[in-house]
Amino acid sequence: MEVFEKNDKRTHYCGTLSAADIGSRVCVLGWCQRQRDLGSLIFIDLRDRTGIVQLAFDENTDEDIFRHAFTTRSEYVLCAKGVVRHRGEGAVNENLPTGEIEIAVDGFKVLSEAETPPFPIVENSDTNMETRLTHRYLDLRRPDIQRNIMARSEITAIARNYFKEQGFIDIETPCLIKPSPEGARDYLVPSRVHPGCFYALPQSPQLYKQLLMYSGFDRYFQIARCFRDEDLRADRQPEFTQIDLEMSFVDEEDIIAVNEGFIKKVFDEFMHLPLEVPFRRMTWNEAMERFGSDKPDTRFGMELCNISETVRGCGFGVFANCVAAGGSVRGINVPGGAKMSRKEIDSLVEFVKTYGAKGLAWYKNSAEGASSSFAKFLSEEETAAVLEKMGCKAGDLALIVADRNKVVFDSLGALRCEVAKRMGMIDRTKFNFLWITEFPLFEYDEEEGRYYAMHHPFTMPMEEDMDKIDTDPGAVRARAYDIVLNGTELGGGSIRIHTTERQKKMFHTLGIDDETANEKFGYLLEAFKYGVPPHGGLAFGLDRLMMLLLGVDDIRDVIAFPKVQNASELMSKCPAPGDPKALEELCIKVDIPEK
Ligand code: AMO
Ligand code: AMP
Repeated sequence: MEVFEKNDKRTHYCGTLSAADIGSRVCVLGWCQRQRDLGSLIFIDLRDRTGIVQLAFDENTDEDIFRHAFTTRSEYVLCAKGVVRHRGEGAVNENLPTGEIEIAVDGFKVLSEAETPPFPIVENSDTNMETRLTHRYLDLRRPDIQRNIMARSEITAIARNYFKEQGFIDIETPCLIKPSPEGARDYLVPSRVHPGCFYALPQSPQLYKQLLMYSGFDRYFQIARCFRDEDLRADRQPEFTQIDLEMSFVDEEDIIAVNEGFIKKVFDEFMHLPLEVPFRRMTWNEAMERFGSDKPDTRFGMELCNISETVRGCGFGVFANCVAAGGSVRGINVPGGAKMSRKEIDSLVEFVKTYGAKGLAWYKNSAEGASSSFAKFLSEEETAAVLEKMGCKAGDLALIVADRNKVVFDSLGALRCEVAKRMGMIDRTKFNFLWITEFPLFEYDEEEGRYYAMHHPFTMPMEEDMDKIDTDPGAVRARAYDIVLNGTELGGGSIRIHTTERQKKMFHTLGIDDETANEKFGYLLEAFKYGVPPHGGLAFGLDRLMMLLLGVDDIRDVIAFPKVQNASELMSKCPAPGDPKALEELCIKVDIPEK
């Protein structure tokens, strides 16, 4: 191994060299992707974050250097100097951006040797995620992951520039904050100075950004780390990043316009794709009725069809009883779906059951003869009416769920996407942005028997629904909006409450009494006394935005050091048991109940 000296500094990144550099003296630094020994010739592919360049060693190379090149193995860290030359006819590699040239090496150093890595450092690795994450520093050498992480940096730079241009001020809010009872579970951090007391890590900078509006900053922006102790999925992490903003003296239109401007800029400067603004809008109600989801994927059809009236009082108990009990019967028509096998249909039945549906009724409208799980319970006319209503033609498959509205929407909303995926109906080149507006203010939790804020308790109700807040809270709509892309909730926000009276009303409806409200949010209520501007904002999930822009299915592929399903980080192996001395200082005794 040799010393890295002053004149060993890089002149070019590997992947940037081209025929235009032929004849230039260069110094490149990086990792050995591969060494090929052809006897009198040795080639080394040298890799850095920009790509690969070929180093050539031959009979004209200094003997000492040739010997070094001979013993070089994959992942050795190298410094190579030499002159760029054409590879010669027949030797050009069309698949490599630098494939026309190579470096005739006349200076060579091994800066660090390497053992054989536990998995190959190549694009589109089929190594399992666990192994990759355990050696994440190696996984992060792979070009595709490296591109993702660098793309993320480009997007945050675009965000910073754009929001600065728009007059936003980047302000950091604290990460050790007061625990709050709403939303997801908090991560708690014990205080040594105040034994028995805890900070929470922020689930979002929500209250701080509102308070910054009260302080007169007018437009706030932050790339903010958020922490939520919730069950993880493919698009969720316990710590994630928001592009977070808040604005004063605005209504929904201002917030929507500023954020459409941001996305437009991302498409201009990063995606290099035309994007039409303004985006389509849809009320929450319409989204549920048509797509069974508040984050509909509009890249394909198969909209929900309500057949409750068609089957009311029909001969099939499952349908008729459901309608009589105040539920609904709805379905989707799968064009060309009749070619699905019985086995495939059965797997769809199992699929909807995971969303709480008790069953899935189906009608396979094959040309060779129809078959159905429910037709035998209906008269011919009744069946014909159902098919007519659903637009189920020869060759199609009708899929129907009868249940409470929530179950019907959840299961059909998900089924629609599942079927589209299985049948290849999704145009992956499309970017369908959509605003969902007029969300319900509250969501009723059957188990707890109380209302929760659908967005958060600081969201302004729609003025025209205020008369229903005491009598029918479930019918009150909120001045809240989500931005949805291809079936994923990319961001969300709202106009906020800015008066004490309204905020108290909100807390009361949520079953939070004055005492609790004062204890938890006293500072906010107090601040309302001193002049609060109307304000509102929004936060994008940066990780989700990156996934969608890059077409990545796993959120872990756009985060440098992500956590796995059980919220642990495999490389450093955290979380870890508390050090006894640290626990003692914190006055914490660990008492793990036996399973
Ligand atoms: P909300 O809770 O909707 O709003 O979060 C905003 C966006 O953050 C992303 N997101 C996540 N991404 C990865 N992992 C998670 N666990 C996770 N949870 C949320 C989503 C989501 O749309 N303070 C409000 C915003 C506001 O009202 O201004 C808030 O946090 O993309
Ligand atoms: P059963 O009479 O229970 O055998 O049901 C007949 C058909 O109706 C089967 O295909 C079931 O999957 C379907 N089914 C049962 N419950 C429901 C429901 N709630 N919604 C839609 N289909 C159902």
